[in-house]
Amino acid sequence: MTESVSPTAYLDHAATTPLHPEALAAMLPYLKEQYANPSGIYASARRARRAVDDAREQLASVLGCAPGEIVWTASGSEADNLAIHGVASTGHAVASAVEHKAVLAPLGALRGVVAPVLPDGRIDLGRLGELLDPSVRLVSVMAVNNEVGVIQPLREVVELVRARAPDALVHCDAVQAVPWLDITEWLAGCDLVSVSAHKFGGPKGVGALVVRARARALQPLMLGGGQERGLRPGTENVAGIVGAAVAAQIVAAERPATVARIGALRDHFVDTLMAAAPGLAESVPRALRVAGNAHLQLPDGVDGEELLLLCDAQGVCGSVGSACASGARQASHVLLAMGWTKARAREAVRFSLGATTTADEIDDAIAVVSSALCRLAPGAP
Ligand SMILES: Cc1ncc(COP(=O)(O)O)c(C=O)c1O
Repeated sequence: MTESVSPTAYLDHAATTPLHPEALAAMLPYLKEQYANPSGIYASARRARRAVDDAREQLASVLGCAPGEIVWTASGSEADNLAIHGVASTGHAVASAVEHKAVLAPLGALRGVVAPVLPDGRIDLGRLGELLDPSVRLVSVMAVNNEVGVIQPLREVVELVRARAPDALVHCDAVQAVPWLDITEWLAGCDLVSVSAHKFGGPKGVGALVVRARARALQPLMLGGGQERGLRPGTENVAGIVGAAVAAQIVAAERPATVARIGALRDHFVDTLMAAAPGLAESVPRALRVAGNAHLQLPDGVDGEELLLLCDAQGVCGSVGSACASGARQASHVLLAMGWTKARAREAVRFSLGATTTADEIDDAIAVVSSALCRLAPGAP
């Protein structure tokens, strides 16, 4: 028997989103007949160059920046690494404890400082203020957390940084924000912003770092050809870049309707499950999270991974926010930073909805998750 390719309910949009059909259609010519290298001087190469630059303008209009401020990268992780290694030197960077590993790992390599968060996952502004002084060169705080979906108080972060560390640049990992928030206003306050196409209906392997005027001294991670003003050498992924820009325009145009529809589906999903399963709770107040996030604290004694395995057997996809290191599952650094114990952090799951989520998927997921919760409830036969 072959396994079905499409899940019954794909609720892991924070991990990746399906490629939007219009993005795929726009990409295909550049994967087939229009294969020229955009650095060439002949007509087909110039067409490829124009496609990359048109895409740059389209993404810039969605993000509210100038086209010349966009540097295409090969992922959100690369954009984060470029922002941190390209600006900070040892000991002069600060980032929140709940950042993605693509921020925390380079921060660690520079022996940077981790700023604590409150139990609700938002950065502790008081403690951040204490960590800032004029020697700090970079402060990195994400827009939306990938596990618990919490929206960070970015405007307050920027104000604090400008007041206490006037020479510091502010980097914002906005990878999880694009589907849910109009980040143009926030972006105006930040100096460096990372995005990743596969989180908003674009292809995998395409990201961008917005580099604003204050960050113009940014240094490249790699040396090579002069692409992307020397900041990201390497032949551009023309098809991927074209697909990313199409997806960005669609997600921005449809965002208000998507947020309203998906927020209602998420609320129905969570409220129905909580009514059915005693001890099930939301990890963070709903008002602090983006519309697609359903991060749940499971009843005592119910392991998140076991729950997800039962759900997977019925075609429902979710995730636990923890990595496997040498076969041993580690507790989520995000939940630990929020003050959860290691044991409690294993009793949590993230379901994340996206623009393509349907009411039928949610109904199926409710049935599957609640029956899995019943099976795993302590004392269940
Ligand atoms: C907040 C955040 N930052 C960065 C990344 C990395 O993006 P990419 O998968 O494009 O490397 C992710 C992906 O999970 C993310 O959620």
